[in-house]
Amino acid sequence: MKPKLLITRQIFDEVLARLLPHFEVESNQTDAEWSRAELLARVADKDALFVVTSDRVDADLLAAAPRLAIVATGSVGFNHIDLNACTARGVLVTNTPDVLNEATADMAWALLMSAARRVCESEHWLRAGHWKRWAFDQFLGADLWRSTLGIVGMGRIGSAIARRARGFEMKVLYTNRSPAANEGELGAERVALTQLLERADHVVLVVPYSPATHHLIGERELALMKPGATLVNIARGGVVDDAALARALRAGRPAAAGLDVFENEPALDPALLALPNVALTPHIGSATRSSRVGMAMLAAENLLAFAAGNPLPTRVSR
Ligand code: DGY
Repeated sequence: MKPKLLITRQIFDEVLARLLPHFEVESNQTDAEWSRAELLARVADKDALFVVTSDRVDADLLAAAPRLAIVATGSVGFNHIDLNACTARGVLVTNTPDVLNEATADMAWALLMSAARRVCESEHWLRAGHWKRWAFDQFLGADLWRSTLGIVGMGRIGSAIARRARGFEMKVLYTNRSPAANEGELGAERVALTQLLERADHVVLVVPYSPATHHLIGERELALMKPGATLVNIARGGVVDDAALARALRAGRPAAAGLDVFENEPALDPALLALPNVALTPHIGSATRSSRVGMAMLAAENLLAFAAGNPLPTRVSR
């Protein structure tokens, strides 16, 4: 008998094809997310679960899934999974590191450049038919070349962002629990968060979400930023206090923001939606075909290793 696998999203055909010979698969074939009650009902007889970041895996879900032995998330972040509850129940947990590093770093740059150079704001203005003449002071933005970039969280994605900054001849500051091994190669200086916020022209957030990073950037931290600065959140909703950010952006400090993740996504703070100086994208940091297939395939490889009784390639649970 094949183990039973529940997949909460439609996945790529090539990934499903890898799984089908080894699992009895039930997956969500619709565009709609299953309700919590539906998810709990469907997981009740499953041995394995393939989730994404918006699926909460907690003690309640585990209680509803007595046979569950593995949860594979198709994401590098796993803050939606209660690791302690999984470990207590002996449920294995895996994630998808590395395969999304470069795509996510590219997206951080896309948001940074859009926000700093007012790309989205001026496009909306142009589409609305406001462009009547060229002017010297139209949509003046902030320089990137030879400016100072602050990276909050110098992990694998942070390093990929820093590597790209060298082409812009930027000074790179970063925060991290420990010095980055490639600090010299990146020409990066490790500083405290307050110093980074005070000195950087552009700040990119790439830290994982946890109770320790909840509202890491709130009213006090935003007030430390330079008046013309840009803030990019490519990390997780909740790392930034979105309501405080909306107030700060309205007051022009920071001057602009680029946000891919939000506190209550997919719902957004209406105050953010109303602001012109913020570029908004719907959690698409890793959304290139190769990156997303890589993520789904790595989740599948973990499930296949589990089914074969082999060590899991990217296990995060103890
Ligand atoms: C991740 O992998 O954690 C990204 O945020 C995509 O969900």
